[in-house]
Amino acid sequence: MLSWIVSKAALVCYLVGKYLEPFSLSLEKLQEVSAQLQKDMTRGLGKHTHHRASVKMLPTFVRATPDGTEKGDFLALDLGGTNFRVLHVRVMEEEQKVLKMDSQICAIPREIMLGTGEQLFDHIAECLSEFLDSQKLKRQTLPLGFTFSFPCEQKEIDKSILIRWTKGFNCSGVEGEDVVKLLKEAIHRRGDYDIGSVAMVNDTVGTMMSCGYWDRSCEIGMIIGTGTNACYMEEMKNVKRVEGEDGRMCINTEWGGFGDDGSLGDILTEFDKVVDKTSINPGVHIFEKMIRKFETRFISEIEEPDSGLENAQQILTKLNLKWDLVDARVVRLVCDTISSRSARLCAAALATIANRIRLNRGLDYLKTTVGVDGTVYRKHPNFSEELQAAVRLLAPKCDIKFLVSEDGSGKGAAMVTAVAQRLALQSRLLEDSDGEENGEDE
Ligand code: BGC
Repeated sequence: MLSWIVSKAALVCYLVGKYLEPFSLSLEKLQEVSAQLQKDMTRGLGKHTHHRASVKMLPTFVRATPDGTEKGDFLALDLGGTNFRVLHVRVMEEEQKVLKMDSQICAIPREIMLGTGEQLFDHIAECLSEFLDSQKLKRQTLPLGFTFSFPCEQKEIDKSILIRWTKGFNCSGVEGEDVVKLLKEAIHRRGDYDIGSVAMVNDTVGTMMSCGYWDRSCEIGMIIGTGTNACYMEEMKNVKRVEGEDGRMCINTEWGGFGDDGSLGDILTEFDKVVDKTSINPGVHIFEKMIRKFETRFISEIEEPDSGLENAQQILTKLNLKWDLVDARVVRLVCDTISSRSARLCAAALATIANRIRLNRGLDYLKTTVGVDGTVYRKHPNFSEELQAAVRLLAPKCDIKFLVSEDGSGKGAAMVTAVAQRLALQSRLLEDSDGEENGEDE
């Protein structure tokens, strides 16, 4: 009986394996993907090519990473999934510490995710109000970092226009609008508290900045979770849509949109096409849909090296599916295959960024750090290892250290606000001292 099951399992896995063949991507294929992404990134940065580019390469107006002199108390808001968080963060210069003083989670009910923008921002303002009450902070006007993990065209650090919703959100009247303005209007409608200066942050940027506080060579931020994306420090001279040639600026690549113009057509499988067609946003964020895994928790459990098969059986039962031992094996094989492709595609994208930074700086060898976050990266049993191994092959002249961020979306948002304040203060000091010199000249 046992040998019959084993041989049936081997046969079925062989047949299913045939279906799964298009998911395995050779090194050469990944190099092609990387070369395509490199082209698309350049198009995204270009003044005249940007509007047609699928990889948006959005300037963030974050011009520096932390230098350790930041300090103060900050509020942080974090909206990017089904929960919304409010935090009070303290940055202590002397002790080189970023402390989360307290935080509160508010659920975003589905009717609000799909309701009007006004309902969404009123809900956010209400959660913030409750939190400020509980912390006795209502009388203070603290600066606020707002992690808003959706593609936004940032005009300034505090002006950010939503390009489109992703990850299941679809609130009306927000696309094309300034998110900071909508937040401030909702707070003014209430009239029971006020906030100081606001810095808008993508979660990738928050992740890079929070890791950057500990490791000054952290110049890339990457998220692999419900959504996927990365940011990195680009040379200003290449950021053609922002004035100025000197220094660097963090670019939010929005690599999830890679392939939206059909450029990934030859590696899209028939299954990817169904996933896209049946999503709430068909035709957009194609790369993200190839990477992201539905119910990451289930997939991670099924791929556990020791208990994976047993977990698969339990999950199939939980889902009210009829199964036999062979089905459980097949489910595991499918999960392994999808995860492995996902890790290798992310590796190709990350290697593209690292190679780009190295060439930008004319270096033979680049040593850099990537701040990472996201449930897929954190929780999956072998995703991170597979990704790192493929990056080593695809970016052989880069030595990349991976640092898992500790609350990048919360503390990182505070860090961006703190760095923005430091830079504003420094330039004010510079203006003052210019004035003095002029006075002396007179
Ligand atoms: C969004 C990005 C975000 C990523 C990770 C994507 O769907 O477009 O802005 O960084 O998810 O949360």
